[in-house]
Amino acid sequence: MTGSGTRCVAAVIGHPVAHSLSPRIHNHWLAAAGIDGCYRAIDVPPDRLGEAVAALRADGLQGWNVTVPHKTAILPLMDRLSPAARTMGAVNTVLCKADGTLSGFNTDGIGFLKHLNATVPHWPKDRAALVIGAGGAARAAAAALIDTDIPFLMLANRTEEKARGLAADIGRQRITTVAWDALSSAVTAAGLIVNTTTLGMTGQPPLPLDLSAAAPDCVVYDIVYAPLETPLLRDAAARGLAVVDGLGMLVHQAAAAFELWFGAAPVYDDALKSVLKSDL
Ligand code: ATR
Repeated sequence: MTGSGTRCVAAVIGHPVAHSLSPRIHNHWLAAAGIDGCYRAIDVPPDRLGEAVAALRADGLQGWNVTVPHKTAILPLMDRLSPAARTMGAVNTVLCKADGTLSGFNTDGIGFLKHLNATVPHWPKDRAALVIGAGGAARAAAAALIDTDIPFLMLANRTEEKARGLAADIGRQRITTVAWDALSSAVTAAGLIVNTTTLGMTGQPPLPLDLSAAAPDCVVYDIVYAPLETPLLRDAAARGLAVVDGLGMLVHQAAAAFELWFGAAPVYDDALKSVLKSDL
C-alpha cells in the first residue's frame, strides 16, 4: 500500500533497506489518517550518511527512521538527542523541527514495552526478566525493562563481555549477567524471557534454551519476526506459556515515531496485521 500522496513526508534510511516493512506500516497509517504524502525507503551506504542527512534536512520531511547500520553513526549529526537515544547510544527516529534542526529519538524501547503490555497486560513484574543478547535490540529491551517494577534483570549473551558492557552502560542497579552455558538455569527465576538474538530467524539455528523449568506464568517474547512463530515461541506455546511475537514491537516503535511526526497516535488494527503477515 502507498500513502495517499506522492510527496515524500517521511522515510527510512538504511543499507540494505529494500526489505524494510516500515513503508508498509507508515503508508497504511498515512492513508488511514488522510495525510497527503508517502513514506519511502532510501538506501544510504555508510559512506554517504552525512550527505544523505544534509539532503533530507533540506527536503522538508516531517522526519525519518534510521535502521541498520546507521543507528549509532547518525548520533553526531543530530542537533538534539532524547534521553532514551542518549542512554541507548542509538537513534531510530529523527524529527525535523520547523527551524531546520534535527532531534534524534529512540522508540525501540517504548515499542518493546507497549507491545508486551498490550499482549500480556499482567506479565509477572514480581520476578526477574531474562534478556538474551547484547546488541541494539537487547539494549532497547533492557533499558525499557529496568524502568519497570521488576526486582532485577538478567542479561545473557554468547559474548558475556558485551552483556557486562551493556549492564554498565545502562548504569543502574538490579542487573546481573548470566554465562551463556548457564542460560537454561536462569529460566527458573524468570517471569519474562526475551530473545533479542538473531537465533531462530529464518536460516539461523534455534536459540538453545530449555524451557522445561519455566514457571507456568512465565512470558516468552521473541523479537525475531521472520518467521513470526519462531522455534522458541512454538516450544513456549506448546508448554502453555504466554508468547509475544516480534512484529508488534516493530509496529509499536513505528507508532511512536508516527505520533512524533504527525501528532496522531495510529492503531495496530486487523487490516495492518493482515498487510504485514502477507509480507512475511
Ligand atoms: P541487533 O542490533 O539487531 O540486536 P546485533 O547487534 O547484530 O543485532 O546483535 C546480535 C545478537 O545476536 C548478539 O547478542 C549476538 O551475540 P554476540 O554478541 O556474542 O555476537 C547474538 N548472536 C548472533 N548469532 C549468534 C549465535 N550463533 N549464537 C549466539 N548468539 C548469537
